[in-house]
Amino acid sequence: MKTSSHICVYSGSANPELSQAIADYLGLSLGKVHLTRFPDGENFCQFEENVRTADVFIIQPTCAPVNDNLMEMLIMIDAARRASAARITAVLPYFGYARQDRKDKPRVPISAKLVANMITTAGADRLITMDLHSQQIQGFFDIPMDHLYARPVLVPVLKEILGPDPVVVAPDSGSAKMAMYYCDMLEGGFAVVAKRRINATTVASSHLVGDVKDKVCVITDDLTSTAGTLCAAAKILKEKGAKKIYCAISHCMLGDKGKEKLLSTPEIEQLITTDAVPQPDDLGGKLKVVSVAPLLGEAIRRIHDGKSVSTLFYIKH
Ligand code: R5P
Repeated sequence: MKTSSHICVYSGSANPELSQAIADYLGLSLGKVHLTRFPDGENFCQFEENVRTADVFIIQPTCAPVNDNLMEMLIMIDAARRASAARITAVLPYFGYARQDRKDKPRVPISAKLVANMITTAGADRLITMDLHSQQIQGFFDIPMDHLYARPVLVPVLKEILGPDPVVVAPDSGSAKMAMYYCDMLEGGFAVVAKRRINATTVASSHLVGDVKDKVCVITDDLTSTAGTLCAAAKILKEKGAKKIYCAISHCMLGDKGKEKLLSTPEIEQLITTDAVPQPDDLGGKLKVVSVAPLLGEAIRRIHDGKSVSTLFYIKH
């Protein structure tokens, strides 16, 4: 890094509440940046203060509207680079396009790699993200990446809700590894559901491996968008005798249909998630939101100070 004297934290427009909470944790004010759109929809940004030699952090989860938020982040990075920031860290509490991380059918893109190229080309020197859909996406970047986990934040809350001896359930084979980590931290049992995706909005869960009879279960996953995966898993758990069913999801991105589905699925007691992406306030007690602002704020502080971030992977006692 070129010599950097000071830290500057900027927010894109995707999740200003989270950015403010991160700035509050750091005891800083958010930096001044003007973000707007031209009538034809183009994004525009201008830093309204000097960023020359600054250690710049740009906070922007690339959630819906995904393309607008992505483009806004890219032009913010570009503007900071052209304004001679010493180092630019893109902070993506949620990394959109992550599910398109492999070529599993003919003639499809690997969009997650394309997005990684775009972030690097724009001028990011490093990246902070959380609970990538697959760990391998780290390899799409040739710049340093700090990959954080929501688990250390969610597990203490889950311990209180679930009580002793819960069963952690992976709602599909892809989420089995994540569920195993939760299993270790919660000291519980493990089960996995066999899921088949019929199309982008419909899934079918057919088999369950593991014993859930009379158990309090928690379904863990990196994200939900239609709630289809969660509701299908909850139904099969209930059929197999689960006592109570909760969900712990890092990135909850329910649209109107997803919210309706969650509300009309009595098998799920509550969905516990983070504020990595903005959360709706019309789900009442069905949704519990735990803030990851201290986790991200501490990561930013440690990166700026050149300290290790690996202690953030574990629960604070
Ligand atoms: C898939 O592999 C992901 O981990 C999620 O299980 C999935 O994307 C959730 O989508 P939905 O809520 O639409 O079922």
